[in-house]
Amino acid sequence: MLTLAIIKPDAIQAGNAGKILAFLEGQGFKLRAARLVRLTQTQAETFYAVHRERPFFRSLVTFMTSGRGLVLALERDDAVSYLREIIGATDPAEATPGTVRKLYAQSKERNAIHAADSPENAAREVAFFFPEGELAGL
Ligand code: CMP
Repeated sequence: MLTLAIIKPDAIQAGNAGKILAFLEGQGFKLRAARLVRLTQTQAETFYAVHRERPFFRSLVTFMTSGRGLVLALERDDAVSYLREIIGATDPAEATPGTVRKLYAQSKERNAIHAADSPENAAREVAFFFPEGELAGL
C-alpha cells in the first residue's frame, strides 16, 4: 500500500533530507513518486484543513510555506501505520529514540516530517500531490 510523507522545510534547510530518505528506504519503503514543493498558502491551508481551529494553525501554515518540502509517495506493506511508528511522536521530546523526529526534529512544529495518519488520509494526500500517471511505472 501507498502512503504520503513530506520531509518538511526545517529538515531540507538543515540538510537532512537525504539522510531521512535513506532511513525510510532502509526501513523497506519504496519511492514511488517525489517532488520538491513550496506550498502556497492556499495549498497549506487545504492540506491541513483538519487543524484549522487549532491555536497552532496559522503558525503551521507560515512554517510549511516558508520553504520547499520534499513530498514522497512511499510503498510498503502496512505503509501507513509503519511510517507513523518510525517517524515518532509529534513532539521530539516525546519521540522514541531512533525515530526520525527524535533524530532530526527541532520542535513540535518544526518536526522534520509529516506522515498521513490513516489509509483514508493517505489516499487523499497522495492524490493531493500526485496525479495517477506520476505513480505508474514502478
Ligand atoms: P504533522 O504530522 O505534519 O501534522 C500537523 C502538524 O502541526 C504537526 O505535524 C506539527 O508540525 C504541527 N503541530 C501539531 N501540534 C502542534 C503544537 N501543539 N504546536 C505547534 N505545532 C504543532
